Amino acid sequence: MAEDMHPHKYKKIVVLVSGGGTNLQALIDAQNRGELGNGRITCVISSKPDAYALVRAKNAGIPSRVIQRKAFPDTAAYSAAMLEAFYEEYADLIVQAGFMTILDETICRAYPNKMMNVHPALIPSFCGKGYYGLHVHEAALEKGVKVTGATVHFVTEVCDGGPIILQKAVDIRQDDTPETLQRRVMEEAEWKILPQAVKLFCEGKLTVRGNKVYIKE
Ligand code: GAR
Repeated sequence: MAEDMHPHKYKKIVVLVSGGGTNLQALIDAQNRGELGNGRITCVISSKPDAYALVRAKNAGIPSRVIQRKAFPDTAAYSAAMLEAFYEEYADLIVQAGFMTILDETICRAYPNKMMNVHPALIPSFCGKGYYGLHVHEAALEKGVKVTGATVHFVTEVCDGGPIILQKAVDIRQDDTPETLQRRVMEEAEWKILPQAVKLFCEGKLTVRGNKVYIKE
């Protein structure tokens, strides 16, 4: 067995998805280019059975699971099922990549500074409850801001409020629609900073003190 493939030598990454999975694809592509450090995507969990992200996982030969919210009576029961799956997968890092279902605080308490999320705006702008997917870009255009972007942060009990790992700005154009802006934020920001943040984590280069993330040079 090659040294870097030894089960104890690499970090197991579980990616949570709900939709198209372009951020998952960015992670898969980075892994294939050898750009995830010693991280390996070992499992993809979808909250939706028809998410295209599941096709991307299959094409990449990555095992997947579907854990649907409607199969559980409440958020607590759903979160408990997710937590059990993380334990079964021996997850070292959990990445929310377009995961649209609410989990409760038991999850981030079980994986403190070991769960990250990509958000399609420059937090603390356009974040928190109700700000997800296209709604985020609609709100940015409605406000008339000239610059938006994306943020990767650790997940805490506060929605979109955890320590910020990386951010990247994207200029807004006068003729942008929510759809064109969403696409450009993905291309110019999300697909770059999410794999970068995962790599930094897997290399042990992220330290959290208080609400700040320090990156080792
Ligand atoms: C991405 O823009 C991601 O930042 C956003 O949903 C999209 C998922 O796209 N996530 C959120 O809004 C979470 N609050 P994808 O499935 O193609 O990666």
